[in-house]
Amino acid sequence: VKNGNGVKGLVDSGIAKVPERYVQPPQERIDKLDAFSQVLSPIDLSKLDQPDEHNQVAEAVVRAAETLGFFQVVNHGVPIELLEALKDASHKFFAQPPEKKAVYLKGVSPSPLVKYGTSFVPEKEKALEWKDYVSMVYTNDAEALENWPNHCKDVALEYLKASTMMVKKLLEILLNNIGATQDQDSRIEALIGQKMVNMNFYPACPNPELTVGVGRHSDMGTLTVLLQDGIGGLYVKAEENIDAGKMAEWIEIPPIPGALVINVGDTLQILSNGRYKSAEHRVRTTSMQSRVSIPLFTTPKPTEKIGPLPQLVEIDQIAHYREIAFGDYMNNFFGKAHDGKSSLNFA
Ligand code: SIN
Ligand code: FE2
Repeated sequence: VKNGNGVKGLVDSGIAKVPERYVQPPQERIDKLDAFSQVLSPIDLSKLDQPDEHNQVAEAVVRAAETLGFFQVVNHGVPIELLEALKDASHKFFAQPPEKKAVYLKGVSPSPLVKYGTSFVPEKEKALEWKDYVSMVYTNDAEALENWPNHCKDVALEYLKASTMMVKKLLEILLNNIGATQDQDSRIEALIGQKMVNMNFYPACPNPELTVGVGRHSDMGTLTVLLQDGIGGLYVKAEENIDAGKMAEWIEIPPIPGALVINVGDTLQILSNGRYKSAEHRVRTTSMQSRVSIPLFTTPKPTEKIGPLPQLVEIDQIAHYREIAFGDYMNNFFGKAHDGKSSLNFA
């Protein structure tokens, strides 16, 4: 991004074919027809407040976390108008002239917590991802209001707060289910001690059959909340058979108006000693239109230790992961290109 305009800059320059460094090896390319389309009905979180429906909804959350590791929620408490405003803000941010975005490049950004970039870790990737992003790590409101980009800060902050309330409710359910009831409030605070909002921009791509928006990976944190627009292209790998005889299929998580996507991250898979699935997922590109997505990542603070819950290790008679500082886990994750669920081997 020397010119400060990322992949979008390439597209704006009028290229007819993607440059060689964006061409994925054949095994990583995404054939649209490979994906299994199955509309999993979204979970209505407003029913959590209804005593006669609470348990059923909580069970649906647990089941989704134990199987696919991805689910969608509606009536989640994050205002619908805010979701629209977030997508608009994202388009506006990336539509700016290069010099307006370049001020957030690593090294020159007014804050180390705000970063505009392209691909994932370009210096490690064999083939680059077809994506630009701006990421905003949250510490406190004053800092965010001072440093986050003008187009994004108000909506991103509001999204972070409203989503965090939902994440806490979901974690309460998931922790109760594995018997992590002791000091639950402080455990939840530790699991979401750090929050980051990203705005992702996937420009329309002249060769969607050769590229990926995001390569196969699992998220490293606790829970991710994802707002996607109506374009589609988010695929998740199902480890368990969804249809008799079908294993490891890619399933599309289709856009549902007003819904948010929730996915389990590695930290929760580790804590649950493998019960909750941090699923491998990826994003395809399209030649039709640019796509935006806005994830909120909730993770422990770098100094926080992550590891399997002792009572589960006792039940299972084995710890599937070792205890490790989240910061070390994070450094490993960012120290290599996206590579499926390989980060989990580090714990
Ligand atoms: C990601 O998982 O990194 C991005 C997901 C999306 O854009 O849908
Ligand atoms: Fe992800």
